[in-house]
Amino acid sequence: MIFHVVAAVSELESKTQLRIELEGEEILLCRDGDEYFAVSYYCSHEALALEGGSIVNRCITCPYHGAEFNLTTGEALSSPAFAPIKTFPVKVEDDLIAIAIGTK
Ligand code: FES
Repeated sequence: MIFHVVAAVSELESKTQLRIELEGEEILLCRDGDEYFAVSYYCSHEALALEGGSIVNRCITCPYHGAEFNLTTGEALSSPAFAPIKTFPVKVEDDLIAIAIGTK
């Protein structure tokens, strides 16, 4: 599994989300306190952007219809979404945040 550096920790100091594009995949890099998560940029309900959703207790709430997703597993925790969203492994080293994608 190869990790790609996508952001600096300092870029997420004053915000909790960052849109990343990596190998054609749109990803939402999320910060909850000092933990980082990478999930699909789009909600599994109507494929609208999750960016701007509130992040609490390692969960993100879709800003459109309120579905909640576990940021660790991608599991849909409340309707109207039932399908999970993708998650990607995240590694933080010093000031760098890296995401693993695919199998390459
Ligand atoms: S698009 Fe996210 S809950 Fe509807």
